[in-house]
Amino acid sequence: MNLSVIILAAGQGTRMKSSLPKVMHRIAGIPMLEHVYRRSLELGADDIHVVYGHGGEHLRETCSDFDVDWVLQQAQLGTAHAVQQASPKINSESTVLVLYGDVPLIKTETLRALIEKVSDNNIALLTVDLDEPAGYGRIVRDNGKVISIVEHKDASEDQRQIKEVNTGILAMRAGYLNECLSKIDNNNSQGEYYLTDIIALAVADGNAVFTAQPENSYEVEGVNDRKQLARLERIHQCEMVEKIMLQGVTVADPARVDIRGEIKIGKDSFIDINTIFEGNVEIGCNVVIGAGCVISNCKIGDGCNIKPYSVVESAVIEKNVDVGPFARLRPGTHLLDNSKVGNFVEIKNTFLGEGSKVSHLSYLGDSEIGRDVNIGAGTITCNYDGANKHKTIIKDGAFIGSDTQLVAPVTIGKDATIGAGSTITKDTDDDSLTLSRTVQKTIKGWQRPTKKK
Ligand code: UD1
Ligand code: CA
Repeated sequence: MNLSVIILAAGQGTRMKSSLPKVMHRIAGIPMLEHVYRRSLELGADDIHVVYGHGGEHLRETCSDFDVDWVLQQAQLGTAHAVQQASPKINSESTVLVLYGDVPLIKTETLRALIEKVSDNNIALLTVDLDEPAGYGRIVRDNGKVISIVEHKDASEDQRQIKEVNTGILAMRAGYLNECLSKIDNNNSQGEYYLTDIIALAVADGNAVFTAQPENSYEVEGVNDRKQLARLERIHQCEMVEKIMLQGVTVADPARVDIRGEIKIGKDSFIDINTIFEGNVEIGCNVVIGAGCVISNCKIGDGCNIKPYSVVESAVIEKNVDVGPFARLRPGTHLLDNSKVGNFVEIKNTFLGEGSKVSHLSYLGDSEIGRDVNIGAGTITCNYDGANKHKTIIKDGAFIGSDTQLVAPVTIGKDATIGAGSTITKDTDDDSLTLSRTVQKTIKGWQRPTKKK
């Protein structure tokens, strides 16, 4: 069976008080529309149509990698009108699923259960029971059978007592959908073409409306303002954190971790409070992520210890590496097994060999560092001459004394030693001591300047 998805995303979202289209606001670092798009892909949709509104060019640009048919709804005349912008293009035998770009936490399993109920000219409708149904369209049943949906504004006092509400999500055959849409008018309190009127039309035609319900009501919650956005963000974060805990990860406080993207993390790893993960993060087993770390698009191997307040971006860290506290690893950093990066160290586009250590207050940029190298405190690679970047190569076993400047391009030999406080501008020999320092002198009886009166 062919599955077509229509995602309604034309609403202005005035209550967001934003210059961005509503569906571009993010949950877990991903635009709301993309959450719904991903669920559609998981369902195996054959074609996906996004109905967007005026001023949605920005939306199309942001989501330009989506494999969808973009459909402009010039004026927002109601949900039926919105669906009608896309539905005539869909093969009449196809099953159409209507989703909403501002309902981001809908689950694929819930939608699968709904789609399974579609047959012939029958409709499958997702409903939910709410303790506080005010504002929602009510599901009116007769002898248990759905007969219509009444919008809150059009509902009688009795109908407003109904707790079962319409989520807006429905599935039906495209041919019958189009037939019904052409019969819908805007004769109601909002003067809109209501998609929900399709229910009463189908019932009048003698067709059945089958319903399914989500496991949790937040799956069908829409976002209208930033308070609701923050609420769904928290719910989604809790779900993701629970998932990794069930996979064998200890999380100090599930409410104080944020995953803005996707994380894979191995058994017996530990995540301390206030950590943020962004993009694609892959972490091995027995890894400790200390408090306050920000980890973006990284691979971190088994047994690593990322100590508090380290910021790690687009880095590859192999096994049993110690990083931080207060380390900054920038893109292109590759740390090999058993290496160590200490506090106040910044590393960029640098390969640090096995067992090498850079323990304190250093900057390493555009360098290639061998194994068992010791980089003394305060070492700086001067990789930038004001116009171009140059490379520093430090061979295996070298020892760089504290407070050394390595003016690139420069190569430090194998097992070479650099005396503390040196400015190295030329390549150095293997197995030798190289230093550049002025000779120490003493001026006896030297008087410090005194303050002028
Ligand atoms: C709709 C349902 C209501 C249901 C509620 C659940 C209708 C008539 N009512 O009400 O039964 O309980 O959702 O949240 O369907 N949109 C467009 N173009 C339009 C109009 C709307 O793209 O012309 C989009 C909006 O961006 C929004 C969604 O459709 O994402 C819902 O529209 P809205 O007018 O907010 O419907 P509700 O009043 O919430
Ligand atoms: Ca409305």
